Amino acid sequence: MRIDIISIFPGYLAPLELSLLGRARHAGLLDIHTHDLRQWTHDRHHTVDDTPYGGGAGMVMKAEPWAEAIDSIVSDDDAADRLKPLLVIPSPSGTPLTQPIAARLAAEPWLVFACGRYEGIDQRVIDHYSSQLRVEEISIGDFVLSGGEVAAMVIVESVARLLPGFMGNAASLTEESHAPGGLLEYPVYTKPAVWRGREVPPVLLSGDHAKIAQWRHDQALRRTAKRRPDLLHSSESVQLSELDTSLMVTRGQRGDAPELLSLQRSCWVSEAQLNSALDLPPLVESLTDVRNGIEGWTTFVVRAEGRLVGSVRARLDDGVWRIGRLMVAPDFQGRGLGRWLLEHIESQAPLEARAFELFTGSRSTRNLRHYRKAGYRTSVIPPSEPGIVVLRKPRPR
Ligand SMILES: C[S@@+](CC[C@H](N)C(=O)[O-])C[C@H]1O[C@@H](n2cnc3c(N)ncnc32)[C@H](O)[C@@H]1O
Repeated sequence: MRIDIISIFPGYLAPLELSLLGRARHAGLLDIHTHDLRQWTHDRHHTVDDTPYGGGAGMVMKAEPWAEAIDSIVSDDDAADRLKPLLVIPSPSGTPLTQPIAARLAAEPWLVFACGRYEGIDQRVIDHYSSQLRVEEISIGDFVLSGGEVAAMVIVESVARLLPGFMGNAASLTEESHAPGGLLEYPVYTKPAVWRGREVPPVLLSGDHAKIAQWRHDQALRRTAKRRPDLLHSSESVQLSELDTSLMVTRGQRGDAPELLSLQRSCWVSEAQLNSALDLPPLVESLTDVRNGIEGWTTFVVRAEGRLVGSVRARLDDGVWRIGRLMVAPDFQGRGLGRWLLEHIESQAPLEARAFELFTGSRSTRNLRHYRKAGYRTSVIPPSEPGIVVLRKPRPR
């Protein structure tokens, strides 16, 4: 692949000589040329910028040097077969860079990068070349850098590592974050097996490849739900290692209310027996109450082959993400779904949430054990509700 990068600071691009990129260049996989835009200026000061039409702060990069630079590079006789390059213009107002975009660019034989500075490049350059070449304005994130050089290097690196032969082991590309499965990568470990008292998860030492693959998938799913719930589709298929069927997780809808009412009644009977209290709200609520609950709370429901088998909800109240109605159908209990639902609802907490809080019956020892294991500690035993224990956990930052 040929890459040309035009900048007023070509020295900024020196890291392109290092590490895997440098190796790929020496191996002939990448043919990178950097150019100083000022060589296409004709005045004593090598001027590349001027004041903006319409006034305002900052300077704008002039069209003439850019056009001369791009024309001269595009008509380079060395360019194989007189191909036309894709012109990439890093810009905070461009299309956000993603792994699929990197993969698409990796299929191009020739990329030319135009690195802006100041307030950017005169729009007419972009408009003109859009009619001559293919042009893409790409952003590397929702923040503003001082120049396009770092952005160009980010794009080049994300593209180059997808080129066949670039990575020592191409399998590294299939399991990493943002690979086609769409999940973030699972946590990784290396020797020693115990470091400062911290052990590597035993499954990774088991030699059981199927179990390891399943554990990694679970971890990737949990991590994605926690850190990047936006990457999970609104209806996400979840496969937990303890279950042999895949589950669909969706936001609760009004139409889920009848099934949710049945599920909560069946789930809270044992709670009522344990705590000698038959008037628990989940047992006495009406269908309308459940509908209102779905609408008033952030609610998730889980289905297995269409059947509603789990749910949880939460609501922000004075900086606390109050979690409730964590329920799992009796035949799905003890297989990791409750833990997954708890982690999932925690991951949905808005930024303002400082703590997570939930409650259970004081005699519900199994629930109490699970919540303590998940980091919750007894917060209060409300005197007005002697059978209730409120548990709290600070939000991890
Ligand atoms: C200071 S910025 C110009 C910002 C521009 N005035 C705006 O508000 O959109 C100068 C140059 O840095 C580069 N740049 C800044 N932020 C970027 C980002 N998030 N992604 C890609 N390029 C960026 C672009 O090449 C841009 O022309």
